Amino acid sequence: MAFLAAALRSPREVGTPVPSGPSLARRLAAVVPRGDVDGRRPVVVELGAGTGAVTGEIAKRVPPGSTLIAIERDAGMAQQLRARGLGADVVTADARTLHQILAERGLERADAIVSVLPWTLMTPGQQRELLAVLRDTLHPAGVFTAAAYSAGYPMPTARRFRGELERGFREVVPTRSMWDNLPPAMTYICRQPVT
Ligand SMILES: C[S@@+](CC[C@H](N)C(=O)[O-])C[C@H]1O[C@@H](n2cnc3c(N)ncnc32)[C@H](O)[C@@H]1O
Repeated sequence: MAFLAAALRSPREVGTPVPSGPSLARRLAAVVPRGDVDGRRPVVVELGAGTGAVTGEIAKRVPPGSTLIAIERDAGMAQQLRARGLGADVVTADARTLHQILAERGLERADAIVSVLPWTLMTPGQQRELLAVLRDTLHPAGVFTAAAYSAGYPMPTARRFRGELERGFREVVPTRSMWDNLPPAMTYICRQPVT
């Protein structure tokens, strides 16, 4: 109910009336390191964590002792996610403040950043601003993944988002649509940020 309430209150910020389904959640979580990175536990960030549909899958995958930071702007959903006790450090904040959130924890960069943000509902300026923050905070050998709704793909805003990804990362791999997700969705897997 917290999800639907937030979606009705802020449709452009939430982007969909229902949380991600299990297959989309698993595909997004699949990019997250399963073991140590350079001899240390990985740092994983989720942007727009909602009520935790994807957080739960990430938490199952990362090794014990990893840092998993789940950022959610809506206080009601963040509260619900915290109550689930998934082991994530849930932060009620805007994803644009990621530098500060990492710095407050003595961290500089993330090894993986996972997002189910309503990218195609953002203005070009908002997309560019947030992608710049992600590129700056992603480890050069790290991975960024974003979900996108398949039906929106022909829309100019969706094509513009893909263009921004291709300008911002040397490697962008789109995955096949998952027709069992509501709404059907695919993901982009992006590596080698251009800084
Ligand atoms: C499509 S929902 C996805 C929620 C959840 N990750 C899932 O897959 O079910 C998008 C979420 O991003 C959050 N959000 C949108 N813009 C944000 C921002 N700038 N910073 C943090 N969270 C944001 C919304 O409040 C919403 O919970």
